[in-house]
Amino acid sequence: MIDGKTRTCGLIGNPVEHTMSPAIHNTLATRRGHNLVYVPFLVEEGQVDTAVKGAYALNVLGMNVTVPYKSEVTKSLVEVDELAAQIGAVNTLVRVADGYKGYNTDMLGLYRAMLEDGVQIEGEEIVLLGAGGAARAVAYLCASKGAVKVYMLNRTLEKAQEVAAEVNQAVGKEIIVPMLLTDYEKLPDKQFLAIQGTSVGLAPHDDEVVIADEAFYQKIHTGYDLIYRPFNTRFMQLVKEAGGEAYNGLKMLLYQGIIAYELWNEVEITKEDAQAAYEKMKEAMGL
Ligand code: ATR
Repeated sequence: MIDGKTRTCGLIGNPVEHTMSPAIHNTLATRRGHNLVYVPFLVEEGQVDTAVKGAYALNVLGMNVTVPYKSEVTKSLVEVDELAAQIGAVNTLVRVADGYKGYNTDMLGLYRAMLEDGVQIEGEEIVLLGAGGAARAVAYLCASKGAVKVYMLNRTLEKAQEVAAEVNQAVGKEIIVPMLLTDYEKLPDKQFLAIQGTSVGLAPHDDEVVIADEAFYQKIHTGYDLIYRPFNTRFMQLVKEAGGEAYNGLKMLLYQGIIAYELWNEVEITKEDAQAAYEKMKEAMGL
């Protein structure tokens, strides 16, 4: 029941209508018996700073931030977590004295989803497809979590080179190796974890995939697609056809929410509660 003690959390972005975050947070609040509601806030261009300051003034406990404000919002915060600062993108605001502290639970969420699935980054050689905003964040995650090498394959080589130079400099090691997407045959003859971080294959272009050659998938023991719509991407299908394990990005989305919820409420969410939120998300997706 909403009463005088109800705390508010919410999402700022534009658009926000299709978000699954209310399904995650309101499910967790109900299951944990927390007097908390989570609502979407549509914020118009140029209003991010006003929105963040206003939320603080309104005693809003925590916020998520989505497209297109994940970089811009950093200017309105009193503190930014180290990984989020490296990535340059914040998706979670935690209320502290005098304002909000920013975190990137997208990447922490991907990491936790991988741990839950038994997929390891530490000590691994990884193939990362893409060099856009999402792939760049994954490159930082891999570098900060002890990957040995990350072969970053991109259609535009220059972009992969730029990201590699930046990440390698930040971590002080030559971990990211930039490559042209079509040069995948030049990958060492090994078994890799592959992370699909391009926008290719996103609904409604379900049949598209960034590399279609079976020979590439022979080198992949596990495939992780950041896309979750469709639920079973072409990339995942090809990984599985070649005998590998494949996962989509829905658990990453789940855990970015769970980590945000844990930060706001200073609690630990159990696997059972995580599973209940996951079921609600699938329901919201019409699955
Ligand atoms: P996001 O924020 O989702 O990462 P982005 O920054 O626009 O989006 O990055 C999109 C990624 O998908 C890039 O790596 C892009 O490759 P380029 O850097 O060469 O543009 C990749 N991508 C998009 N369409 C592609 C296509 N048809 N073939 C190969 N790669 C593609």
